[in-house]
This record gives sequence, structure tokens and C-alpha cells, in this order.
Amino acid sequence: VADHNHLHLHHFDQDAEHFAEQVLAYAVSKVRHEQDDGLFDAPSVAELDRGLSGSITQEGLGLERAFGIYRDVIAASCLCIEHPRFFAFVPYSPAVPAVLLDMALSASGIFGTSWLEAAGSAAAENQALRWLSDLAGMPSSSGGTFLSGGTIANVNGLALARHNWRARHGDSGRRVAVAASAEVHSSVRTSAKALEIDILDVQPDERGRLTGVNLAAVLEASDAEVCGVAATGGITNLGIVDDLAGIAEVARARGLWLHVDAAYGGAALISEQTRALFTGIEQADSLVIDPHKWLFAPLDCSALIYRNPALAVGAFTQTAAYLDAFHETDETNPGDLAVHLTRRARGLPFWFTLCAGGTVAMKAAVEHSLMLARQSARMVERTSYLELAIEPELSVVVFRRLGWSASQCRAWCARLLTDGVAMVLPTNWRGETLLRFCFVNPRTTIEDVQMLIDSLANDRERD
Ligand SMILES: Cc1ncc(COP(=O)(O)O)c(C=O)c1O
Repeated sequence: VADHNHLHLHHFDQDAEHFAEQVLAYAVSKVRHEQDDGLFDAPSVAELDRGLSGSITQEGLGLERAFGIYRDVIAASCLCIEHPRFFAFVPYSPAVPAVLLDMALSASGIFGTSWLEAAGSAAAENQALRWLSDLAGMPSSSGGTFLSGGTIANVNGLALARHNWRARHGDSGRRVAVAASAEVHSSVRTSAKALEIDILDVQPDERGRLTGVNLAAVLEASDAEVCGVAATGGITNLGIVDDLAGIAEVARARGLWLHVDAAYGGAALISEQTRALFTGIEQADSLVIDPHKWLFAPLDCSALIYRNPALAVGAFTQTAAYLDAFHETDETNPGDLAVHLTRRARGLPFWFTLCAGGTVAMKAAVEHSLMLARQSARMVERTSYLELAIEPELSVVVFRRLGWSASQCRAWCARLLTDGVAMVLPTNWRGETLLRFCFVNPRTTIEDVQMLIDSLANDRERD
């Protein structure tokens, strides 16, 4: 019988002391990006099953062995989405201060739901939300909370759009609709489906943008009970910003809720280079910006900001005898501002980055990706076998490899991953397969991009 049988779950004994040093050293090596965390094809389920078999036992394996499984089987088979050549989806690049504070936060029992239990955390999260609201130009009365992701923030924004509509117009018994374009993020459609809200489709313009003109035309022709519009501040596939000013004008004129999903693109509010694209965002009734995407917060952290937080409190506050004490305060609890209760104080690592690093550093880090996108676009234009699909506005570059079929594009991407070089995935726009680079990582260099562009010259890929 191994001595680890004496492991006490809630007792910091000598074993724990020794292990703490080991695990902290490991964590710090991750923050330093010391080890060559990789890009590779996912292991098979059978391999993982083998590696994990016998992990959960009556007696426990002890700290060292259990950690060995975490490090060598689990973590080792997860892609490093912080890799400087990870360009698929929306990549990830948490700031050093954010990750370090997150480690401290994980070790602290901070219950981020109420002022009663976590006043300091609520106040600091509000500061960070205030900073984001100010970037957007929302009124000083606006406020919100941090949620786990853009998807769940969209659910809450749309739920409040309907709640507000019915509070003002009554419940006709019909399903309400939200107007959105074909380019709206999939999570808006899923949110609407989950809420039994219909989507009123609006044709995007030639750049993929939802515009005020097209929105007005569709609303004019529709007899749906439309309660709001879901606009996008940075379409994930293309990095293009909707005509927020035009949309806001139509929404205001018709008394519609304006939900702006800037989960990915909202970070670009910080730069004068891109700020003007977002004109109109200040009129949002609900706004989503995900610090875990392009504002260097660790997963998971999405900001949901309401123009009028009191509406959210009215719609979402949970009441129960055992919770009464939460509400013996004049302050608004983070837990009352969305459909959630227990919550991690997930805004704190983001607040800490702002506090420790300052907003100038934050802006420089965002602008690095804007620069990469611009330079990559010029590189694509100079390359005979490539063609830009659309001029980038933010940090997404979408282009075609002339002469290659969709399966050749897929094969190139697959080989990059197998060779551990990069994570790139093809995308599709208007029926055409294209290649897409999304930049959010300040450790990415233009040489990284050049390397991939050069490798596209190679005609090895075959159907
Ligand atoms: C514009 C937009 N909205 C919503 C989401 C969903 O966010 P999450 O993955 O954090 O749920 C994404 C994700 O990429 C996005 O880009």
C-alpha cells in the first residue's frame, strides 16, 4: 500500500508542500512558454482511453502519479491554442499578468456573485466593465457582468430584448423575432433557437455587412413581431464590422432593441485606427465583448454590458429565502445581471492586466494584430498564386489560393498541423472555400505569416 493513501483532501501536509512547488514550477514554465507546446493531430480516443485507464480508483493514485497523467496524457494531447502560428477560429493569447493573477484567483475562494460575499471583486469587475463601456461610448449608467463566453452573453442579450419588448407591448402570444444577417455568429442563431425566438434574415451587403438600409427594407416588408436586431462588431469569419450607425438609427426609429455582438471585434475599439468602424455601437442596448478573445484575458471571460442594467436585474434576479441577504444592499450584484448565480470572479484577471499593465500596453498589443492583418493582406496581394477575398478591417485575413481546389486547401491545412507548423483552417464565404488567418497573438511575427505564404507556393497538394 503506497504512502499516498494518507493523502488528506483538505490538509496541506508535507506531500502537498512538495507537490505545490512542482505544480507551481510547471505552471510558471507554461506562462514562460518554455516548453515547446505543440500543434499536432488529435490522439485517438483509444489512445486516450489507454492513457487514462485506471485513473479513478478507490484509494487514489497520489499527487505525483495523478499529475503525471494530467501532464503527460491530458495536457500533452491538447493543442496549444496560444501557439504564435495558431490562426484558426479565434485564437487565444492571455497576458502574463492575467494568467498569474488567475492562478492566485483559482487558489482563493472568491464567490463572485454578490456584494455581500465579494464586494472587492464586484467593484473591480465593475471598473473593468466601465472601461469597456467607455471605449464603446455607452452612457455612465450602463453596466453588466462577466459571463463564460460570447454565446451565453448572446443568450442573455436576446432574452432581455424579448423581455423588454413584452414589458412594453404585452405578450401577443406570438413568437417574437430578432433581425440578423446571414453573417451573424452561429451563437446568435443558437441562442435564438434555444429561446424560441425567430430570426428575421436580412441580406448582407457585398462586404458581408448588415446595413441600416437593408434592415429597414426587410422590416418594412415583414409582418413578424420583431423585438430587436442583432448586429455584429467584427464578423468572425471575415473580420468586418456591420453598419452599426445605420442599424442603430433604424432600431431607434422603430423602438427595437439593439444587441451588438462584438465578442471578437470589440477589442479594436481601443485603437484610433479602427475606432470609427464602430460608430453607432454607443447606442447598443446590450453589448458583448469577450476579453478572452482579443483582450488577453484567460478563458473564460465575456463582458455583457447593458445600457440599462436595471432591466436585467428585473428580468434575471433570483429570489429565494436563503438568498435574501444578497439583496440587503443598494449595489447591483453581478449574479443579478444574467441567468447565472454561482460565478467565478472571471473579470479579475482582465482587470488585473489593465491595472498592472495599463491601457497603453493593451492598445499596443491589439494594434500588433491589426498591423499583422494589414501587412499580410499586402503580402497576399504581392503573391502571384494568392488573391485577397476582402480587404481586412480588423485582424482576419481571408484569401484564395489560385488554382487550388477545396480539397487541396484542406490538405495543405492538414499537413501544417501534422508537421506541427501551424493551425490554419479553410473557411467558406458565398460558396467558395477560402483560407483564413485570424490574428490575436502579440507573439506572432510577420515572418510566421511569410513562412505560411511561402509554403502555399508548393504545389504538392493533390486532389
Ligand atoms: C462574434 C462572436 N460572437 C460570439 C462568439 C461565441 O463566443 P464564445 O465562443 O465565447 O461562446 C464568437 C466566438 O468566436 C464570436 O466570434
